[in-house]
Amino acid sequence: MKLTKEEQEMLDGKHGRAVKKSMEILTALGDIFGAERLISVASVQIAGVSYHNLGEAGLDFLAEMAKDGKTRVLTTLNPAGMDMENWRALGIDPEFARQQERVIEAFKRMDVITTCTCTPYFVGNLPRFGDHIAWSESSAVCFANSVLGARTNREGGPSALASALTGRTPEYGLHLDANRQAKIAVDVKAELNGADDFGALGYAVGKKAGSKIPLIRGVNAASVDELKSLCASIATYGGTAMFHMEGVTPDKATPADETIEVTAEDIANAKRELNDETDIDFVSIGCPHASLTEIRRIAELLRGKRVTKETWIHTARPVKRTADAMGYTKAIEDAGAKFACDTCMAVAPLKGRFHGLATNSAKACYYGRGSNSFKVKLKPLEECIRIATEE
Ligand code: F3S
Repeated sequence: MKLTKEEQEMLDGKHGRAVKKSMEILTALGDIFGAERLISVASVQIAGVSYHNLGEAGLDFLAEMAKDGKTRVLTTLNPAGMDMENWRALGIDPEFARQQERVIEAFKRMDVITTCTCTPYFVGNLPRFGDHIAWSESSAVCFANSVLGARTNREGGPSALASALTGRTPEYGLHLDANRQAKIAVDVKAELNGADDFGALGYAVGKKAGSKIPLIRGVNAASVDELKSLCASIATYGGTAMFHMEGVTPDKATPADETIEVTAEDIANAKRELNDETDIDFVSIGCPHASLTEIRRIAELLRGKRVTKETWIHTARPVKRTADAMGYTKAIEDAGAKFACDTCMAVAPLKGRFHGLATNSAKACYYGRGSNSFKVKLKPLEECIRIATEE
């Protein structure tokens, strides 16, 4: 790979050990994927933040990088293993909390903005159309590529950190026009409404199209919340890191060779497959992290009611602060529901604590089953809140 003079100096160790290690990671990646050069990134989002997933080896790596590493571009974090302020009330083990705090401290020493969220675009990490970025979290990567028209591969935690400390990423994959073209057209013949429907669409498209970039047609309107749900679901069930949606997403999509359909029957089947026979003892909203619009709606639905099931809302801390100022938090907490900011039900250590999860997120169904062995129910937001409050 061709390096500039500055990049070569970084690799030679003239900018410190963390930068040298970062350049070793990035050039190795570039060589594997046939990149010809490194390019500058406008922002970074780092996954691999939960101590639950990192463990001691991951923490050692971060501590080593934090000795002399400092970010060169705006960098935020993916959800951690717990709410960083309210972990006691959410029943997190103090020893786990101590280790999770060490992880966040290491990132802070590197000047990473320690807002832990999978919706960085709601909290100021918002790239422009065409920006090259290095993001990690699969739903955020899909949102950045598809909805914003920024360009990122799905980075691992170490390669994203390496980009943060150098401001570079290897130019391959979705950074290149040629790899961003639709491979399959998907004609949607179904009415869709709400995050659960768009999650079911992601499930159906993912199962039929796999990791091929789809050009989705026939969806006339989609809100930001519906799109973030689709991004999470399509990346989870199909593995694609971007899609085009005619009339909705900004990238120019060339026609694809192959065409398939997603019918109302496919959406109904997806929902059937994402609804187990189970009682519910846990309601979780905010996968990906809830927007202010969703939180406002939850507050409306809960005002004057009482939850009878453990009910958690996951969101980014700065979004929650706005909800605090608007009185939404009070309405939600007065009803007995809890905010679990900075974290989510997939990365928090929840296995064994609950059995039946109700959620409006198809992705949460996947991780609820896989990571936590829950039985799951995918329902519209209003139905989730009804379940949360039923006697
Ligand atoms: Fe975000 Fe966790 Fe869902 S990282 S996309 S809330 S599984």
